[in-house]
This record gives sequence, structure tokens and C-alpha cells, in this order.
Amino acid sequence: MSIISNNSSINFPDGFLWGVSTSAFQIEGCPAESSCRLSDWSHWAARNDKIKDGSNADSACEFYWRYPQDLELCAQLNVNCFRLSLNWPVLRPAQTEQFALDREALAYYKKLLASIKERGMKTFVTLFHFCLPNWLSEVGGWNNPLTGKEFALYAEAVASELGPFVDYWLTLNEPLVYVYRGYINGDWPPGYSRNYLLAFQTIRALLEAHSAAYRVIHSVCPQAQVSYVIHWRPFEPKNWFNPLDQIVRFYRNQVFNHLFPRAVDTGILEFPFPIGSDPPVREIAGPVDGLKGTIDFLALNYYTREICEFKWSCPPDVFGVQSGVKRLETAGLGWEIYADGLYYLLVEDIAPYRYSAGGQPRDIFITENGMADEFSSDLNDGDWSLDDNQRIFYLVAHLVALAKAIADGVNVKGYLHWSLLDNFEWSDGLCPRFGLVRVSYPSQERVFRKSARIYADIIAGNKIAPALLALMTR
Ligand code: FCB
Repeated sequence: MSIISNNSSINFPDGFLWGVSTSAFQIEGCPAESSCRLSDWSHWAARNDKIKDGSNADSACEFYWRYPQDLELCAQLNVNCFRLSLNWPVLRPAQTEQFALDREALAYYKKLLASIKERGMKTFVTLFHFCLPNWLSEVGGWNNPLTGKEFALYAEAVASELGPFVDYWLTLNEPLVYVYRGYINGDWPPGYSRNYLLAFQTIRALLEAHSAAYRVIHSVCPQAQVSYVIHWRPFEPKNWFNPLDQIVRFYRNQVFNHLFPRAVDTGILEFPFPIGSDPPVREIAGPVDGLKGTIDFLALNYYTREICEFKWSCPPDVFGVQSGVKRLETAGLGWEIYADGLYYLLVEDIAPYRYSAGGQPRDIFITENGMADEFSSDLNDGDWSLDDNQRIFYLVAHLVALAKAIADGVNVKGYLHWSLLDNFEWSDGLCPRFGLVRVSYPSQERVFRKSARIYADIIAGNKIAPALLALMTR
């Protein structure tokens, strides 16, 4: 169905949630964390060969100090929801005999969340957004059962302390991205390269952690809305007529996209044939305690697609490699702009997960979507990057795709753009700029980009106006 007709706008449903998405390590510059290197990530970023532009997140956006000003920016953007993550390493800086959260860190999050609520915004709160307390990473991270136990205690404690301020809980951010980068690519901590067995064990540990956190949050806050965040990436073979590239596409899609949501739906971790019949993998597979049906809504991150190909190796690797091929316009980081992918994701790819076991349609939120441009981190004054026309195109194209899916009956209830501010983009450092708001790191000045004004207008009207739709014909 076409929803774009001449001279008419595209309207979003009443009550639609519009927001921005962030994560602690990428913006906070929390002094306790950087001075004591409390997380695996602050250790990783302090090593001089791990971050492409040589930067680190010790200051990042100084959100820890500047959040009142940044929430004012949210008010100017008209957003009605905000996604943040709790800094687990700072809340739980060391192992103690009696479990306890750090009081100062807890007070900070209470103040921050209360300020967001006072501004009338709904909150999405992530518990694990890639950063482990360093003392846990030193004993094996997710591959040591202690980490799962600690995660459940942490989830229970923050649910009882912060429950009244949280509308939507997200236990884990993008488990497969975490596993892929940390155990296969090796460019994120813990830094393993192509260690599939450990990667699969970690997936199991993360499923167990999600399941436990879902249950403890519900036991503390029975009305809570709890889920985890899925990063969905359509895969395309480099050569459609090459069966080996097709095999790679199949396995990447099955594992990266479907493995986790399928396990959550059925309660059973299953690896595709023939991987699953390998004896050590068979031991990892199987039912996961209490996992079945542990999502109250669907949280999806969508950015781009990936073109993949087979590469000969010994032993052969069915997951192949990411190919360098690009077929569409690219944004920063070489990411193709593929807005139709969001439409197909919503109407086709996630079809198996759109309904609960009872047949109720699940609410769906796009919890991240956005693109980077790239500018050096030492830039200060000037009008660099303010006319971000490519981001406007990206934003509007994805919102049109979203509106089309809604018109086709998909139950999307909200959209959160990544991100409010330029921030620390993990191993890519400070140069990739994902913000609607530009951050000049030396002065910490914030300036609205053109896209921020456009987003604010869209939100104010709850619609995309015809003049913006005309951009889509470029
Ligand atoms: C997502 C991450 C987020 C940010 C964006 C660009 O995969 O969840 O932290 O890095 O990518």
C-alpha cells in the first residue's frame, strides 16, 4: 500500500512515542569509572591499539555533569521518551560479601531518572549495554557463572530502587552484536577472534541472564514491561548465484538475527544444522531455565544491511566474512542506507515474533536507528557538519518505511533515534558522529544540527509534512 500521495502528509498514530537513545559508557564520562577503570571497556579504550582514532571515553560528552542541559535539549526536540543505560560497573564497582549497589551511583541515577520523568518523558532503561564490571571481566566475564548470578542480583536491586522511574526495562542490548564483536571479530573486549565455541557459550549465558533478569524485575515490579534489544541486520550474498555465498547468508541470518529471539520464544537454544550436531555445541544447546516467552514487547535496533561472502579457510567457516561490496549510498562507517530494510524487517522478518504465545500482538519499539558522519574529534567552533542533509534523508526515509509498516498493520508504538548527542562509538572512537546534536569535544559545546530541527518538527506535528516527503525523490 502506498502511503505517500501528492500534497498530503504521513501521520503517525496518536500517542506514538518519539525519543532519543543513549548508553552510559558512550556519553557519561563518569569520573569514578575513568579514574578507577571500573569497566572492561575503560581498560580496553585505555590500550593504545584498540580505538581507531586513538580516543577514549574518559570524558565523552560529560553527560554525567551536563545532563540537565541535555534534558533541556530533549525538551527542545519535543521528544516524549528517552533511553539510557545504567552503568553496571559503577553501580557495582567491586565484589562485596553482602550484595550492595554503590550509593552515590544509585543517587545519581535516581536524580537523572526523576529529572527525565519531571519533564514528562517515558524512560527506557538498559541494564547491560556492552560494559562489564572489570572485576567480573577479570574472572572470565559471561563465561563465568558468577557474572550471571551478579547480573540477576543487580537487576533485582535496581528494579527495587529505580522501579518507579522506569517505564520499559531492557535487560541486554544487542546480545549478538556483543558476542560477534567480542568473540568473533575480536575488536571489542574480551577480544577473542573466531572463537565460535566460546561465542556460543556466551550466547547461552546471555539467554540465562536475560531470563533471570526478566523474572526478578517482574517479582519486584509486577507491572513492569521488560524485554531485551535485538539488533536486526538483513544479510545479502555478494553473489546471488554462488551457493557458497548463499550458505553464508543463511547461517548469518539464522544465528545473528534469529537465534536469540527464537530461543526466547521457545525457551530452547537451538543451533542450525549441521552446527548443532557438533558434540561440544550440542552440550551448549537445549532448554534454558524459565526463558520461554520472557518478553513483554519487541525492541528493535535497525541501521543497515550487510553483504557477505564465503571465504576459503581450513576448516571451512559457514559464517564467511563481511564483503567490502556496497550497492547503495553509504553513510559514515561505510554503512549502506537501506530504509526499505526497516519495512521488510517489520512486515516480514520479525513476523514469527510479533505475537505472544497467547496470540496478542506485541508492542514494537524501534529503540535505535541512525547514521554517522565522520569528523575529527578535535574540532570546535565553526559550522562543520551542521547541514547534515544525509541524516535528514536517512531519518525521513526510515520514518516513511516505518509508517508504511504501521499502515500495513504492524504494531509499532515508538521510534527512538540514535543518538541525542555525538558520542564515543566503541572501537571507532569519537570521530563517527551519530548525534542530532553536534558535540564539540574540546569545549563540550552542543549545537543542534539541521536534522534536530526537522526531527523536532516531525514530533511536534506527529507527522511528516509534504515538503519533507519531496526529499525522498532525490
Ligand atoms: C548499536 C549500539 C550503540 C551504538 C550504535 C551506533 O549497535 O547499540 O551503542 O554504538 O550501534
